[in-house]
Amino acid sequence: MPESQATVDGFKRAAAERAVALITDGMTVGLGSGTTAEFALAALATRIAGGLRMSGVPTSERTAGLARQHGIPLMPFDGRPIDVAIDGADEIERDTLNLIKGGGGSLVREKLIARASRRFIVIADERKLVDRLGVHGPLPVALLPFTRQLVLRELAALGAPGTIRQADGRDVVTDDGLIIADCICGAITDARVLATRIAAIPGVVDSGLLLGLVAEAIVAGRTGVRVLSPGK
Ligand code: 5RP
Repeated sequence: MPESQATVDGFKRAAAERAVALITDGMTVGLGSGTTAEFALAALATRIAGGLRMSGVPTSERTAGLARQHGIPLMPFDGRPIDVAIDGADEIERDTLNLIKGGGGSLVREKLIARASRRFIVIADERKLVDRLGVHGPLPVALLPFTRQLVLRELAALGAPGTIRQADGRDVVTDDGLIIADCICGAITDARVLATRIAAIPGVVDSGLLLGLVAEAIVAGRTGVRVLSPGK
């Protein structure tokens, strides 16, 4: 039987709180986007109210706005190393901890901040764990609007046909002025090859494949909170 929304929210909160407990005074913290990452913002706000000093680097304008509402101090992304980044994911591959991200459309900034972080922690409820990436949902690919037809043709030729994400009959446009192709891949057998081929398409800015970046996955479910490392 599927879990109720309240139960799933409880799992997300538990994973987020476990990750935020790892933040110590003076750290810079990458702030993810999405409903799970928003529980981490609330947990950080509680710790800041208790005296924690930290600076957040947001992965989206929405996260920046919410962080300001929570009183979380922010700093711009300047390419320098970030101590810890905490973010959600759409799919987490069980053995590798490779990810699909971008369900919320922030994948370009999310990947940049994950790459810049010394320790990238992904937080999720256990429904996000999969044996192979690509089985649950589409793979988001961010592209320049001008190149949509070319990119869609090339994605289809790679066996990853996509449709441009829309809301209320209009293209969804990201914080960086990009549009998103949601691609149906099926189970991805070689994520590295697919990521390289997609990145080589002119007009593609990035895909939602995050490979070899996760230090640990904090996953919550009926049996409690588990901390997973890649390869375990
Ligand atoms: C946004 C993302 C999110 O982290 C991902 O979509 C998971 O979101 P949620 O925690 O709401 O399920 O990649 O671009």
